[in-house]
Amino acid sequence: MAQADARAQMTGRVVDSYSNIQTIKLFADTEREQRYARDAMEGFMVTVHRQMRLVTIMSVGLTLLNTALLVGTAAMAISAWYMEAISLGVLAIAIALVMRIRFMSDWILWEVAGLFENIGTVQDGMNTIAQEPTVRDAPGAQPLQVPKGEIRFDAMRFGYEQAKGESKTVFDGLNLTIAPGEKIGLIGRSGAGKSTLANLLLRFLRRTRWADF
Ligand SMILES: Nc1ncnc2c1ncn2[C@@H]1O[C@H](COP(=O)(O)OP(=O)(O)OP(=O)(O)O)[C@@H](O)[C@H]1O
Ligand SMILES: [Mg+2]
Repeated sequence: MAQADARAQMTGRVVDSYSNIQTIKLFADTEREQRYARDAMEGFMVTVHRQMRLVTIMSVGLTLLNTALLVGTAAMAISAWYMEAISLGVLAIAIALVMRIRFMSDWILWEVAGLFENIGTVQDGMNTIAQEPTVRDAPGAQPLQVPKGEIRFDAMRFGYEQAKGESKTVFDGLNLTIAPGEKIGLIGRSGAGKSTLANLLLRFLRRTRWADF
C-alpha cells in the first residue's frame, strides 16, 4: 500500500509537470518542479528499497530452509536406504520432490509478493474511483429528456457557500431563455457570473436547495 501510494504520487507529479509544461516554462519554474518530482521519486525509492530488503530477507530465509530440507531429506533417505528400509527408487523420488518444492517455493514467494503489491495498487485506485459523487440527483429525478434543446432559467437563484451557512449570491431571480439552436453571447464584467452560469448548465456545481431552481 505504501508503495502504491508513493507510485501514484510520483506519476501524478510527473504527469502534472508535463501537462503544464508551458506554464512552468513561462514562469521559469523548472527547478522547483524538478525538485517536486524528484522528491516523489525519492519517496518511491524508499518504499522500493524497503520492499527489496524484505524480499531479500525472505529469499535468504527460504533458501536456508530449502537447503535444510534437501540435506535433511537426503540424509534420512540415504540412511533409510542404507538400512534397506527403502529402495533406491524411493530415494531418487524423495530428492526429486524436494528439488521441485524448492523451485515452487521460490516461484510462490515472488507471486505472493507481486499479489500483495497489486492489492495495494487496487486499494489505492478504489479510494479514488469508489468516491460517492458529491453532485447527486434529486430524489425521484426522471432521466433527462432533451427534445428541443431549449435552455430556460426560471427565477434562478444561486450563490457560493462562503463559510458555514453563509453564502455569496451570484444570481438572484435570473430569467433567461435560449431557444433551440440559438447562439448567444454572455457579456459582463469580471465576476459577473458568466462562468458560473456555464458551470451550472454543465452541472459542475452542487445545488443545495431544490426549491431555488
Ligand atoms: N468556486 C467559487 N467559490 C466561491 N466563489 C466563487 C467561485 N467561483 C466564482 N465565485 C464568485 O462568483 C462570482 C462570479 O464568478 P464567475 O467566475 O462566474 O465570473 P465571470 O463572469 O466568469 O468572471 P470572468 O470574466 O473574470 O471570468 C465572483 O464574485 C466570484 O468571486
Ligand atoms: Mg469566467
